[in-house]
Amino acid sequence: MNTPLIDPFLRPITYLRVSVTDRCDFRCVYCMSENMTFLPKKELLTMEELDRMCSTFIGLGVEKLRITGGEPLVRKGIMTFFNDMSRHLESGALRELTLTTNGSQLERFAQPLWDAGVRRVNISLDTLDEGKFAEITRWGRLPQVLRGIDAAQKVGMRVKINTVALKGFNEDELLPLAEWCAERDMDMTWIEVMPMGDIGNENRLGQYWALSDLRETLGQHYTLTDLPERTGGPARYVRLEETGQKIGFITPLSHNFCESCNRVRLTCTGELFMCLGQEDNADLRSALRNHPGSDAALQDAIRDAIAHKPKGHDFDYSRQALDGQMSRHMSHTGG
Ligand code: GTP
Ligand code: 5AD
Ligand code: SF4
Repeated sequence: MNTPLIDPFLRPITYLRVSVTDRCDFRCVYCMSENMTFLPKKELLTMEELDRMCSTFIGLGVEKLRITGGEPLVRKGIMTFFNDMSRHLESGALRELTLTTNGSQLERFAQPLWDAGVRRVNISLDTLDEGKFAEITRWGRLPQVLRGIDAAQKVGMRVKINTVALKGFNEDELLPLAEWCAERDMDMTWIEVMPMGDIGNENRLGQYWALSDLRETLGQHYTLTDLPERTGGPARYVRLEETGQKIGFITPLSHNFCESCNRVRLTCTGELFMCLGQEDNADLRSALRNHPGSDAALQDAIRDAIAHKPKGHDFDYSRQALDGQMSRHMSHTGG
C-alpha cells in the first residue's frame, strides 16, 4: 500500500486539477490575450499518458479529479479519457470526477459525461447580458452556454456557476445573477480576479472588486448564514436564508485559503504546479516517458514535487501595485 501524499506543511494532497488543453473557444479578457499562441498538439500528453498520470495520482491517494483547460471539452477525444477514468469511480478509489467548463460544448457532452460518472459541473458565467458576455469572452455566445447549462441540469448534474467579480462590469448583476441561479436551483461562486496573464491594457487593479464588499451588499438584501461545509475546493459558503441558495466566495486576495490547500495542478504538457500563484513546477512528463514500463519513477517524481509545495501564493494587491503579477495565463494551469 502506498503512503498518501502529504506536503511539508502537513496538508494531505487529495485533489488533482488536470488541464487537458491550453486551447479554448473563448478568450475571456482576464484569462487569455486576444492573440494567443497555442502549444503544438504533439507537446500535449496523449490520452494514454493522461490516464497513466491520473491513475498514478489516484494510487497515491488523490480522491477528487477536476478536468480543466483551456476549455476541456474542445480537446479531441476527451470522452475517451472520461470513460477511462470512470473505472476509478467504480472501484471506489476516486470519490469525484468532475470538470470546470465554459459550457459552450455541454449541450452535446452532458449525456456522455453523465454516463462516465460526472455528477457535478462548474460552469463559468460572468454576466447574463448577451452584449457584455460577448465583450468579456471576446466572441462567446451566451445562448449557446445557456443551452449547455440546461442540458447539464436535464441529465441530472448539479451545476455550480463560477462568476469572476469585476468592478464596473458585473457589480450590478450581483442580485440578478443570484436570483437567476436560485430559480434554477444552482449554487454559485464568486471569484476575486487574480493577476495572471499578460494583461496588456487591462487594469486588473481597477477591475478588482473585493468580495467582502460583495458580501456586504448581499447581506443588505438577504439574511446570510455562514456554512461550515466545503466541497474540497477553496470556496467558503453562505446560505441565503430567504431562498435556501448557497453562495461561495473564492478570495485568494482578500482572505487567502492556502492553509487548507489540498490540491496540485497538472498542465496538458505534464508539468506539475504545486500552487496556482507560484511558478515552481516539476516535469512529470519526462518521468513518465523515460520509464514506460514502470510507474515507480513517476511516483518518486510526484512525491519529490509535493515535498516542495510552497506554503502559499504570492498574489498581492495590498500594496496597490501588481506585485506578484504572473505572466503565466490562467488557461495554462486551468484555474
Ligand atoms: P469545487 O469542487 O466546486 O469546490 O470547485 P473548485 O472551486 O475547486 O474549482 P473551480 O474550477 O470551480 O475553481 C474556481 C476558481 O477557484 C477558479 O478560478 C480557480 O482559479 C480558483 N481556485 C481553485 N483552487 C485555487 C487555489 O488553490 N488557489 C487559488 N488562488 N485559486 C484557486
Ligand atoms: N482570475 C480569477 N478567475 C479566473 N478564471 C480565469 N482567469 C481568472 C482570473 N484571472 C476563472 C474562470 C473559470 C475558472 C476556471 O477560472 O472564470 O471559472
Ligand atoms: Fe476559456 Fe475559461 Fe479562459 Fe474564458 S476563462 S478563455 S472560457 S479557459
